[in-house]
Amino acid sequence: MKNNPIGIFDSGVGGLSILASVKALLPKESFVYFADQKNNPYGGRSVSEIKRLSSKVVSFLIKKKVKLVIIACNTVSVNAIEDLRSKFDVPIIAVVPVVKTIAQKSKTKKAAVFATPATAKSKYLKDLINNFSNGTKIYTIGTSKLEHLVEEGIITGPEVEKAIENSLLPLIKKKVDSIALGCTHYPFLTSEIEKIVGSKAAIYDSGGAIARRTEHVLSHENIEASKKGADYYYTTGEESKFKIISEKLLGFKLENVEKVEI
Ligand code: DGL
Repeated sequence: MKNNPIGIFDSGVGGLSILASVKALLPKESFVYFADQKNNPYGGRSVSEIKRLSSKVVSFLIKKKVKLVIIACNTVSVNAIEDLRSKFDVPIIAVVPVVKTIAQKSKTKKAAVFATPATAKSKYLKDLINNFSNGTKIYTIGTSKLEHLVEEGIITGPEVEKAIENSLLPLIKKKVDSIALGCTHYPFLTSEIEKIVGSKAAIYDSGGAIARRTEHVLSHENIEASKKGADYYYTTGEESKFKIISEKLLGFKLENVEKVEI
């Protein structure tokens, strides 16, 4: 059990930003990464579809004998976490926007969560903001313009810049000084975002918090690995495209990439 892999999934390549953070903190752990690219994006889907699709993915990961599951997709976390936890026995860690952090860090007392439309309008995020904003005004902004660019491996250039400008510059004008990336695809755009918002706002993602949470849960459950095994990557999309784009985003070669149907 201890040396079984950690399962981690997203609708696409975005969750690789979380994988990178967890891998960096926990080098002895092995991973099964799953990208449901055939059904990507999840961001424009209904809650029941998000629940149905994510349930199929978690079942697949459990068949691969994972000891823990990381939902590396805010859209799934905020819409389906309770459903998944009630259906499956395995410990589940869910990525959510770092609302508490931006509320604490903001000096202007104005912050924003930058996410997909499904995350931006979710009740879960509203509750998170009500519970943790602590007097800071928190705007939520959802765009469907960026996630597919990252899926195509496009992380710089005019299309990316235009989508970031349209979404974030109005918030900067309102004196927002802290921005949480509420979609796991967006950390791959951090330098572009920083170029556009300049020194006016700081950018926060969930990678570090999820890595630390994973370390804590593994230790609490007494299932920390002692020996690194191979990592496996599965996609419901095109295998070779997934491999090329993921290698570009992660900066290392992937072995064991396979296309699957679920
Ligand atoms: N990466 C996912 C997230 O964190 C979103 C991608 C999608 O819309 O499917 O929300």
